[in-house]
Amino acid sequence: MNEPKLTVRVLRQDHPDRPSYWQTFQVRREPSMNVTSVLQRIAANPTTIEGMKTTPVAYDANCLEEVCGSCTMVINGRVRQACSALIDDLLKDNPAHVELRPMSKFPVIRDLFVDRQRLFRALEKLKCWIPVDGYYDMGPGPLQSQQEQSMAYPLSQCMSCGCCLEACPQYTRVEVKQADGECDEDFKRRRDAEYDRQFIGAAAMSQSVLMNSHPTGRMSASDRIEAMIAPGGIQNCGKAGNCQAVCPKEIPLMTSWGRAGRAATLHAIRKFFDG
Ligand code: SF4
Ligand code: SF4
Ligand code: FES
Repeated sequence: MNEPKLTVRVLRQDHPDRPSYWQTFQVRREPSMNVTSVLQRIAANPTTIEGMKTTPVAYDANCLEEVCGSCTMVINGRVRQACSALIDDLLKDNPAHVELRPMSKFPVIRDLFVDRQRLFRALEKLKCWIPVDGYYDMGPGPLQSQQEQSMAYPLSQCMSCGCCLEACPQYTRVEVKQADGECDEDFKRRRDAEYDRQFIGAAAMSQSVLMNSHPTGRMSASDRIEAMIAPGGIQNCGKAGNCQAVCPKEIPLMTSWGRAGRAATLHAIRKFFDG
């Protein structure tokens, strides 16, 4: 009896400076496979459908349970996580094959593995953390009402996967390359300065809103709002909502955009009256 086979087309790239190209693989189809397990099968025997030996397909992964966001890629035209993309479900929509591409808004490191540093830089720019005075036991923190907690919890599920940025028409790809002879420190400084000029995107904005809703985080709210309205800030959002439509954690990003906009307006009024 013929074994059921799965055909997988992968958009590959050997190096950030090399052009991309397609390769097609065929793997034995097994019950309950996900895209990560298909990539593992290819890695075990990296041979194209034409019988050419090649290298294993590079991809990023960590938690394997849709929590870390690192395996995000474009699967059959939709940005999502490889570890939670089940082959049986994918083949219902497209029985011919599975097609894998790297996200298009981030620089490719290799194959399906991209550099999401710009997203992490935006989290830094918007101060998406709760400052503490030290690491000694300071006792229980301030109480949060049930209502505050239920607003905060959905936002806290963000895994910095980048789906919302991939789907956003305002978020365009930016690539900053290290120049010959440029030391790592100088390169990082120059790259971060460039990223800071670009649109922050929905993920970092929503995390900033989350930090501003926390009783301790609120103490740095005006610093975060200043960063939100700096060049590349919330004014760049077109409010079309693609970000919310693709978020795998169903985070209410349009509500966050509304909260960010209202906070920015109140901040401007306060600044006007405070001189
Ligand atoms: S609402 Fe804003 S962040 Fe979301 S997809 Fe549209 S422009 Fe991008
Ligand atoms: S907001 Fe949603 S889509 Fe965007 S990074 Fe967070 S989890 Fe991913
Ligand atoms: S490996 Fe962590 S989300 Fe897929």
